[in-house]
Amino acid sequence: MKHIFRWILCLLVLLPSLGFSATDQLIQIKTQNTVMVIQSSPNKDLRFLYWGDQLNAGDSFTQGLNAQGEISAYPAYGGRVNINPALKLTHIDGLLTTELGFQSVEHKSLDNNVSETIIKMKDLLYDFVVNIHYTAYFDQDVITQYVTLENNEKGQVAVEQVASSFLPIYANQYYLTHFHGSWAHEFMMEEEQLTHGIKKIESLKGVRTTQTDNPSFLLALNHNAQENEGEVYGGALAWSGNYTLSFQEDESGRMNIVSGINPFASTIKLEKGETFATPKMILSYSDCGKGQISRNFHNWAREYGMTHGSELNPTVLNSWEGVYFSFDEKSIKGLIDDAASMGVEMFVLDDGWFGNKYPRNNDKAGLGDWQVNHKKLPKGIGDLADYAVNKGVKFGIWIEPEMVNPKSELAENHPDWIVQSGKREKYQQRNQWLLDLSNPKVQDYVYSVFDEVMKMSSNISYIKWDANRHVDNVGSTYLPADKQTHFWYDYTQGLYSVYQRIRENYPDVIIQDCSSGGGRVDFGAMKYHDEFWASDNTNALDRIFIQYGTNTFFPAMATASHVSTAPNHQTGMVLPLKFRFDVASTGRLGMELQPKDIPAQELPFAKAALKTYKEILRPIVMKGDLYRLISPYDNDGSWYSILYVSKDKKESAYFTYNLKTQGRETHLCSKLRGLDPNKTYRIEELNKAKRGYFAGDGKTFTGDYLMKVGIPINFYFPYESCVLHLVAVN
Ligand code: DGJ
Repeated sequence: MKHIFRWILCLLVLLPSLGFSATDQLIQIKTQNTVMVIQSSPNKDLRFLYWGDQLNAGDSFTQGLNAQGEISAYPAYGGRVNINPALKLTHIDGLLTTELGFQSVEHKSLDNNVSETIIKMKDLLYDFVVNIHYTAYFDQDVITQYVTLENNEKGQVAVEQVASSFLPIYANQYYLTHFHGSWAHEFMMEEEQLTHGIKKIESLKGVRTTQTDNPSFLLALNHNAQENEGEVYGGALAWSGNYTLSFQEDESGRMNIVSGINPFASTIKLEKGETFATPKMILSYSDCGKGQISRNFHNWAREYGMTHGSELNPTVLNSWEGVYFSFDEKSIKGLIDDAASMGVEMFVLDDGWFGNKYPRNNDKAGLGDWQVNHKKLPKGIGDLADYAVNKGVKFGIWIEPEMVNPKSELAENHPDWIVQSGKREKYQQRNQWLLDLSNPKVQDYVYSVFDEVMKMSSNISYIKWDANRHVDNVGSTYLPADKQTHFWYDYTQGLYSVYQRIRENYPDVIIQDCSSGGGRVDFGAMKYHDEFWASDNTNALDRIFIQYGTNTFFPAMATASHVSTAPNHQTGMVLPLKFRFDVASTGRLGMELQPKDIPAQELPFAKAALKTYKEILRPIVMKGDLYRLISPYDNDGSWYSILYVSKDKKESAYFTYNLKTQGRETHLCSKLRGLDPNKTYRIEELNKAKRGYFAGDGKTFTGDYLMKVGIPINFYFPYESCVLHLVAVN
């Protein structure tokens, strides 16, 4: 006893000299395989110590050896901070600096899997509070971070920068992967080694932000990101507005990652007593490569990041590429008949069904006037929805409620609702303007569009929500002159408040998140949606790359993936129907064509492929774990190969594609992953068209063999593909 007492006394005397005093605390945020460690000291800034694999003894940090160096867990501009800060304020008296001191920490267990840690910080001189919220999702190995501000100063404080998260990382080399694109070419992967200085991924578009760069990243340490090994951090910002992810390798060689809303022209003027919340940053770490990061994000998304993540979304026939704006009641009923006869579960009526004074017969008029076009559809939407349901097909419909054509009754009646910069020109994109969702009246209107469309028929069970332009010449007639900079944040929050209201009143409806294709594929929007439209490019070869990108973070179940006609409307490419089905079957399968254009001799294949998807592939693809076996970016873009394995490892679906002309002798051999080595699997080739590609069709193999030796596939021509179903027999 005496010894213990002496030992404790000795420790208390020694610790301050080692950088850890008796009043210091180690705050540990744990998930199944990782731990984040932060040190707090009363009235001092936080110190970020570690985020990585679980440690046997987290308290070794009290020995004062800190691999990260002296770095704050949330650096505010002021004190000794000379890196890109997480927070920049101008206080009531014009003081430019902030120094935060630790006040308290609160741990809350929200359920068996989720716990929240809230660290309260306060400026050392001013009554301004910063709460840093960390939520740990134990099973998924995901930590989310966001920040709330409380202005208790005597007047207005200008918030010039407020990040959702700050993450410092130490390694010898850093490799950044992110996804860049343009219309019909979204989510192209780019990887680069970062050097000193700042690299930023950002958007200033306000709306349709993810068409160009997605607010997500992978950061691999010491060599470029590997699929199954190596340390990788992954992050995705849950925000549909302007954002910045900044990566600064500082003079000490540390990588400081600041993620959050974009501060550009976005100062938030926080009045006395007001609070502010940033969006959430979703983060994950793995030392088993980027494949595990993707699986962590998919598991998290299905459980916490989307609507109805445990349900199986229906197959769809969407009218857009089949008929565009040219349809009437008869042709739509014809599409519904074809959907029914092919076994498609949902028909979606896309753009062109509304507007009377200004009929929506092309993209030049009618947007905003959400009354059914009596000439095209004299019996209304209810009649079509009933017709579909009577045929055993569910019914869905397209809207674009944030936008307006100048040629519309809405634009005539509410010119002040349009985003505009004083008397400057209101530029059009796709012949349309944007409505100002920072205005609560516009929020009510946008909600009412959804509500009134839903009320057209109790048989509407799916809405496709589109948004086909971004912000330029920014400005709001609603916001006061001194708060025009609030537009960017308020627009997105206005959108979310509409989504929230919709979900409260329509919890069951399936909603597709579309924005000129993949313009709004982010976890801020996903929370309220069941699926997203990844791109207007439906060409299966391009879709391989686009879906490779989206599925790095977003699960296959949310990826609407449609078979379209040949030649493809965006690229002119003619690809085999089997290849098109085999690509679309790796997400939520649908069709985007005039079924009458499918050649009669190929119709049986199409029907059988739909049946196979519904009966065999869908549950494995939507709920299983994704293993990327061969990247389309490797081997000069020759192959692509992926595997989904059911959670119980009893079933698996293998997809592989030949993307190029190869030498005739070439065959592809991929070693499978994620199977149970002790199980024996019977393999059956699915979606066979002219010939099969797998010599072991119908035979059994152990998981051990399949993962160590692999399976050979013999392709003959480019754009051939092979789908295998593995079922455990023991
Ligand atoms: C853009 C979407 O991405 C398309 O799928 C289609 O809905 C059109 N808009 C309709 O205008």
